[in-house]
Amino acid sequence: MTKETQPTQIIDIGFGFWQSKVLLTAIELEVFTMLGDKALTGEVLGRELGIHPRGIWDFFDTLVALGFLNRAGNGTTALYSNTEETRIYLDKNKDTYIGGILEMANDRLYRFWNDLGEALKTGKPQNEIKHSQKPMFEVLYEDMPRLQQFMGAMRGFSMGNFNAFVQKFDFSNYRTLCDVGGATGLLSTLVAKHHAHLQCITFDLPVVEPIAKMWIEKEQLTDRVQVVSGDFLKDALPKADIITMGMILHDWNLEKKKHLIRLAYEALPENGAFIAIENLIDDERRTNAFGLMMSLHMLIEFGDAFDFTGADFWSWCQEAGFKRYEVLHLQGPCSAAIAYK
Ligand SMILES: C[S@@+](CC[C@H](N)C(=O)[O-])C[C@H]1O[C@@H](n2cnc3c(N)ncnc32)[C@H](O)[C@@H]1O
Repeated sequence: MTKETQPTQIIDIGFGFWQSKVLLTAIELEVFTMLGDKALTGEVLGRELGIHPRGIWDFFDTLVALGFLNRAGNGTTALYSNTEETRIYLDKNKDTYIGGILEMANDRLYRFWNDLGEALKTGKPQNEIKHSQKPMFEVLYEDMPRLQQFMGAMRGFSMGNFNAFVQKFDFSNYRTLCDVGGATGLLSTLVAKHHAHLQCITFDLPVVEPIAKMWIEKEQLTDRVQVVSGDFLKDALPKADIITMGMILHDWNLEKKKHLIRLAYEALPENGAFIAIENLIDDERRTNAFGLMMSLHMLIEFGDAFDFTGADFWSWCQEAGFKRYEVLHLQGPCSAAIAYK
């Protein structure tokens, strides 16, 4: 970074919440869903969404300037439409919608991050469990709409990473896979769809089971993906050639991380693969800013939970008895850390 560009970057990042809140509010007001495949004038779009005339032009033109909307023409007759990306990823009526994670970011995470300073000083979570002694998932799942929002958020967040995983990992030597903390069953259904020789199990808490079953039925994969319910803090894992954990280890402190790794080891056969899909921090902790911020987010959500480097993962896996290790980069900040038994 040169001296000339430094102040711009400082101000840009300092005011990052402007951009964030514009996008999150556009999702909250369903701008991209309302537009779908259409092109509308600002006046019509604003009226349909119930936006006051004072806000219409500044709001939609900011979305144009940020690259989230196209605009044909200038002035009041100009037509606004989705960009190629927002049409695919932010229209709720499409199966490719990933806005669930942004809905949750707007509804829950945005306000919790306001207390980052307090989290840093106390080491304590700043979310719904801030004033409760109960564990995070128990509180989060007490409320059905919040559970459903979290499930939608996980789908949105993990869609691209799991798609990259099913394309990049070599599944040819394996017959069975168990995805631990599988939520809606997304990873299992993607693997089953792309790799016809594999049978999958999606394992999660009993409260999640009906949601997973609903998605698996929707994908017409009930013969290939089985739902098994249990509690990985108390129960053994189903046996499989591959055990995957997508953003599971980062939810827990070191003791529970090691417990989960031991469970995976016990559930695998010789040469079986244990795969953690995470925003794996680079070993020197210098470059993967998203992975590092995800770890700050784990402080805000859980307190003692944290993200980790590939080297951390491998040292814990070696302790459990795994023989070999590699990292498969998936996309952006996300990688698959793979340990072989
Ligand atoms: C951060 S989400 C990750 C979801 C999914 N693997 C992904 O990457 O999109 C963590 C998942 O772990 C599940 N989970 C939490 N505690 C659990 C437990 N004790 N036993 C089984 N699953 C649990 C949650 O229900 C949730 O689906």
